[in-house]
Amino acid sequence: MEIGKQINLAAKIIKEGGLVIFPTETVYGLGANALNPDAVAKIFLEKERPSFDPLIVHICDIKDLEILCEKVDENVLKLANAFWPGPLTLVVKKNKIVPDIVTSGLDTVAIRMPDNEIALKLIEKSGCPIAAPSANKFGKLSPTTALHAKMQLPEINCIIDGGQTIVGIESTIIAFNSSGFQILRPGIITANQIKKILPLSPNTIFGNRNPIAPGLLKSHYKPSKPLYFIHENTHFDKSKAGLLSFCGENTDGYKTIEVLSKNKNLVEAAVNFFECLHKLEETNIEYIITEPVPETGIGIAIMDRLRKASYKTIA
Ligand code: TXA
Ligand code: MG
Repeated sequence: MEIGKQINLAAKIIKEGGLVIFPTETVYGLGANALNPDAVAKIFLEKERPSFDPLIVHICDIKDLEILCEKVDENVLKLANAFWPGPLTLVVKKNKIVPDIVTSGLDTVAIRMPDNEIALKLIEKSGCPIAAPSANKFGKLSPTTALHAKMQLPEINCIIDGGQTIVGIESTIIAFNSSGFQILRPGIITANQIKKILPLSPNTIFGNRNPIAPGLLKSHYKPSKPLYFIHENTHFDKSKAGLLSFCGENTDGYKTIEVLSKNKNLVEAAVNFFECLHKLEETNIEYIITEPVPETGIGIAIMDRLRKASYKTIA
């Protein structure tokens, strides 16, 4: 079916309270009408997501902020104007219109405008903001292709295929407080970029965030095979392991190898990150060994995902 027709059909499903898988620039989302609590409840069921983990609401126009938040703060507007559409999610005080199920009962709501034509059209045609987590089962690898999403959520009939996502990891999430802002989840938009627009210092960077963002758990993004950092386990049998390599050096002896970026380019590494992990997950290996990546710029976001993917296996 032609893409315009697919979007129309998907918008009809959203309006009727159903679920749709759609592309964004970061990862694929599993969307529902954000203002319909029954529709949003279906997301939690399909994802097997605990109800304490709030969702991001996607909009197609900055003006929609006025509908969703209590008061559109000057700082929020500055960042929205600078980075939207784009991979930055802003956590703001919510308006009553946002159902509690979307925010897990918090008085704040996470909002972003995705930089993807299909997503923007879908939101516009649906005539409502769309609540959407990544289109995977809770805690598993995020989908960067329609196929990844389809494999994890086969019950969802409506999938709009927009090809591989261009950013590859989830949006940067920030929250505001009296003295500045806080990065709740690192992404391709870095603290330094944000500081250029808002000359405030980030007070705590994705450190102890659990009290304010209950969903940002320490264990997440789990492949179906155990994942170890290369320096944590020196006695592994390479012939049974798949290597997630940063640039393709020192790869001898592994059963299979996935390279994030031959040119040591961290942006390219982010694009390939989940795709490489999906491939390793599907290969006949016993475990995944990963190299760390340099922890600068978007490397911070990649290392955040890798630590969570390996969390339980560190002990
Ligand atoms: O790039 C993305 O952000 C993708 C695409 C689909 O837009 N979405 C995504 O959603 O990554 P999800 O549900 O996988 O992650 C959303 C995170 C959760 O960990 C949740 O805890 C946090 O956002 N979050 C949502 N609302 C929040 C709030 N009011 N306060 C703090 N954190 C919040
Ligand atoms: Mg997710």
